[in-house]
Amino acid sequence: MCGIVGYTGNKNATEILMKGLKSLEYRGYDSAGVAVFTGSKIKTVKEKGRLKNLKAMLLETSVEGNTGIGHTRWATHGVPSDINSHPHTSEDGKIAVVHNGIIENYEELRVMLKSKGYTFKSETDTEVIPHLIDMYYDGDVFCAVKKAVSHLDGSYALGVICENEPDKLIAVRNRSPLIIGAGEGENFIASDIPAVLPYTRNVFFLDDGEIAVITKGSVNIYDSDGQAVEKLPETVNLSETAAQKGGYEHFMLKEIHEQPKAVADTLRSRISNGKNVKFDGFDAETVTGFEKICIVACGTAYHAGLVGKMVIEKLAKVPTDVELASEFRYNEPLLDNNMLVIAISQSGETADTLAGVRLAKEKGAYVLAITNVAGSSISREADNVFYTYAGPEISVASTKAYTTQLVAMYLFALFLAESRKTLKPTELDIVKNELLNMPETLESVLELEGEIKRLSKEIYKETDMYFLGRGLDYKAAMEGSLKLKEISYIHSETYAGGELKHGPIALIEEGTVVIAISTNKEICAKMDSNIKEVTARGAYTVVFANESTATQHKECSDIITMPEVNPLLTPITSAVPLQLLAYYVAYNKGEAIDKPRNLAKSVTVE
Ligand code: G6P
Repeated sequence: MCGIVGYTGNKNATEILMKGLKSLEYRGYDSAGVAVFTGSKIKTVKEKGRLKNLKAMLLETSVEGNTGIGHTRWATHGVPSDINSHPHTSEDGKIAVVHNGIIENYEELRVMLKSKGYTFKSETDTEVIPHLIDMYYDGDVFCAVKKAVSHLDGSYALGVICENEPDKLIAVRNRSPLIIGAGEGENFIASDIPAVLPYTRNVFFLDDGEIAVITKGSVNIYDSDGQAVEKLPETVNLSETAAQKGGYEHFMLKEIHEQPKAVADTLRSRISNGKNVKFDGFDAETVTGFEKICIVACGTAYHAGLVGKMVIEKLAKVPTDVELASEFRYNEPLLDNNMLVIAISQSGETADTLAGVRLAKEKGAYVLAITNVAGSSISREADNVFYTYAGPEISVASTKAYTTQLVAMYLFALFLAESRKTLKPTELDIVKNELLNMPETLESVLELEGEIKRLSKEIYKETDMYFLGRGLDYKAAMEGSLKLKEISYIHSETYAGGELKHGPIALIEEGTVVIAISTNKEICAKMDSNIKEVTARGAYTVVFANESTATQHKECSDIITMPEVNPLLTPITSAVPLQLLAYYVAYNKGEAIDKPRNLAKSVTVE
């Protein structure tokens, strides 16, 4: 989604802003801009399209100074255009603002501001903000911003500069992330940590409602009433190289290959020496008290939730529902204080999931967040957090964040089962030991890459594909299908094997590609009947099997055999070859794999 950067110090601000915006490109955007103090004036340059367009504009006009703000916009209110791009300014250009989020009451604010004589250039919700600041400006930009934001409903992270108060940045956070990078003789603001990593690892995390006044030598943070807030910077342990491609052609391929490590790190965070799973913050009474669980998530994280439901019910015997967060929040869910709500979100910022967390807390449920981003909104609002240790995921299509979410689900199910004594320790140990072996297993799964490359060449020209599975394989198939459509733009749908005859089989014709996941010995004969049904109607069938099921599927067109694992754990081993398949199909088609069209990494609008 949108990205914010800001700088004040002694260096060339434009260069630093452009570098910061580049590092936030993965968030998805359709236009970009900067506003910089150049001498006594603020100069604002903005441009529709990729950062290279903005760069070309900056070469034409000299924009040099030591303080400025920059933005990448992902259109919500108003089409992508030069005018709708940020920074937005007051009519005299003396106040410039970058904004992430949505101002929900912008229409009424526009009416009010128009009645006072303000005119609007753009169609955006954001433009009300510089006008409001201008309306209140009386020689103190901090006071004017404080008064202006008291009118705003919605979510906003803001960076503000004002021509009359040079070399000062104002930063505001409310329901949209914003951090301050604290350097030596220079300070930064950013919507995401990678933008400041080349300069500093010391970061102030702003809380909702806080306003910061930043100069090159100082950071002062205030609450919404203007009272000073005492806060120390925290040190973040992300390496800069972790946010780079590390020799791979795309971040997605790099991140697929990082999965053995990501899974190992996540396992290590909760379990050591094969002992019990540890979960601080849950007392025995709370854990045994939950009567029901509801998992809330969006996109790929929702697929992790679907697996989580089956695993929790199987191991811990707690009835579990899974809801798309965008549905959950409007469906009047039955929640009470005997319920556990698990919010899964790699970014920790997805607007619908965050709203689900708030609703669950309001109704008295206990909320556990599973997220990859420390300090994210969801992690801060939940009662308890399980951080996955995937490291920064730059590619929009989620890979290592997903498999670590699966690992989190298994670990939590094991923890519940151990605490509630629902299975014998020896039974749980079988699953636990195989889970602990998963990093090595995934190394051998990755050896299938050559075969997947070959397969992708056979099928990449297709326009439609169908995925089939039963039980956990059905959930794995859903994620495989999503990955394929996200980055290759091939239409694909997933069906439970048993549903085939109830409609979808009508779509099968000569050459239709059907991808079946079949890893469970108990039901692979049923799956094979479904494979035969589509083969008989001319389908090109590809089966992702494992060592124990491969022999069952003799009549398919192609087969990929994955290493054998406990039937409960197959969603992790199936995820990796299906990610590779999506990757190589998109690669053969020449698509923009890391930044697929229309998609954003972090969806902070509803
Ligand atoms: C976007 C991303 C998906 C992600 C979904 C939920 O659509 O492109 O990859 O699965 O949001 O994101 P979250 O951060 O909540 O896991």
